[in-house]
Amino acid sequence: MVSFLSIVATGITSFILIHVARYISFRLSVRGKLPNAPISEASWWLGHDYRVAKNEVGVEYGRWTNMLGPVYRTKSALWQNEVVVISDHLGVKHIFDQAYTYIKSPAFQPIVVKALGRGLVWAEGDEHRFQRKMVSPAFSISAIKKMGPSVMTCIDRMIQRLDIIGQIGFGYDFGPETPDGKAILGAWQKDVQLFSTFPAFLAPILIGVFPQIAKLPIKELQEDSTAKKVIHRIGRKLLQESPNMDGTDIFSILVRESWEGKLKLDGERKLDDATLLDNTTSSTIQLILLDLAQNPDAQAKLHAELVAADSSDIDAIESLPYLDAVTREGLRLHPIAHDTHRVAIRDDVIPLKKPVMLSNGETVTSIPVKAGDSFIIPFLVINSDSQVWGSDAHKFVPERWIMEGALPPASELPHGPYSHISNFVDGPRVCIGWRLAVQETKLILASMVKNFEFRDTGAKIEKYFSPVAQPFVNGEAAKLPLQVIPIQHH
Ligand code: HEM
Repeated sequence: MVSFLSIVATGITSFILIHVARYISFRLSVRGKLPNAPISEASWWLGHDYRVAKNEVGVEYGRWTNMLGPVYRTKSALWQNEVVVISDHLGVKHIFDQAYTYIKSPAFQPIVVKALGRGLVWAEGDEHRFQRKMVSPAFSISAIKKMGPSVMTCIDRMIQRLDIIGQIGFGYDFGPETPDGKAILGAWQKDVQLFSTFPAFLAPILIGVFPQIAKLPIKELQEDSTAKKVIHRIGRKLLQESPNMDGTDIFSILVRESWEGKLKLDGERKLDDATLLDNTTSSTIQLILLDLAQNPDAQAKLHAELVAADSSDIDAIESLPYLDAVTREGLRLHPIAHDTHRVAIRDDVIPLKKPVMLSNGETVTSIPVKAGDSFIIPFLVINSDSQVWGSDAHKFVPERWIMEGALPPASELPHGPYSHISNFVDGPRVCIGWRLAVQETKLILASMVKNFEFRDTGAKIEKYFSPVAQPFVNGEAAKLPLQVIPIQHH
């Protein structure tokens, strides 16, 4: 009779053999021979991840890209599989174009559900195709054009970030002084503070390793953000009323489509992410204002262009060349998400623009991928690689977008819906709000720079990710000291 001990011994031996075989096969694979971020810079239990999170946005990935090239491996926290960091334009485009092969990392899904709900950002595969088709009409070129006047109205009331979310998303005034507005603002500040803590860094990693943790009765894990609750409550209320047939906000467009039988609307669920994500634009605008304060010549040039333009003509403002250049340059330097993660769910091959040298001296022009392999795409590195953008890659130089010959050839630049800016992803999961984001950025900047002068205060401003890239002063989040001087127009 086979003894219990020999069963246990066979089990342990098989376990070890399987792992040794896997390790050898990994080491012999192309992936196992890709350049490696320095091991001396990895923590024994947090890998390279913590170093990336605790440093300023983009710094570590940028340094390693300069050292190792556009494709390399990093060690993950808690001994999970290594991740490939990739900023090769062709490779990145392939990953984004194959959005249903390279899905978002499941580790982040519980966090997405808590912050944004089971909407478009969360959905994968057929559910994503379905939701995307439903929500798309609200983000078409003509729909965004019609939102222009609402954006202007909000700006005229001296823009407060959350005003914009309410009016454009719901046609509903969240006004910063109303209880709903205050609740959303408070939730945002709370989230920002929470996201910059060590537990917030560790939580998604732990959930990735032990998914059951997400179900534990811990208040922070189970409770929706206050902003999400408020958005749900108002969404429910508005859905009970008959639709505003003339409304140009995202909500009215979708409710109208639903009443006309063109789509099935589970309104409160499908809208929370789109409307909540609208506040991402404000971080970008704050950082562009800082750039302008630190570059008074660029600010003066923009001001002169705005004064000469007809400020009541939205189309004219949006097509001003220097405003467009400032917007592109600001987005290039301040992608609000510093990177995005993808996991392959089937085997594939990623083509590369630039050959990569492996540890055995061999050179490859593509990377074979196995289901389960994960990737990080660092936007800031793609937008500011000095080998592509030149020695002033990290400087704010709007002229590069308009001066003849200042921009590298298009084939060298990243892909994206707003040309050569990688911030909005690409392919089937391209940011659905990119046109609205560009429109809001341009109109808000135009109004601010026409009416105020912004001066640098000399405060040391750093950029950290929490939960989007934003300014920190002396370790405090969401602070941006700028001297603001009203300009008298005669
Ligand atoms: C400067 C502003 C913005 C930037 C840089 C930005 C960036 C992004 C990025 C990087 C993604 C893809 C995330 C990923 O797949 O990992 C995304 C997706 C998305 N964005 Fe934006 N976004 C901005 C503004 C907006 C606005 C204003 C809205 C809506 C009002 C919006 C709604 C969405 C939605 C719904 C998705 C999910 C799309 C999908 O997965 O199909 N975004 N955005």
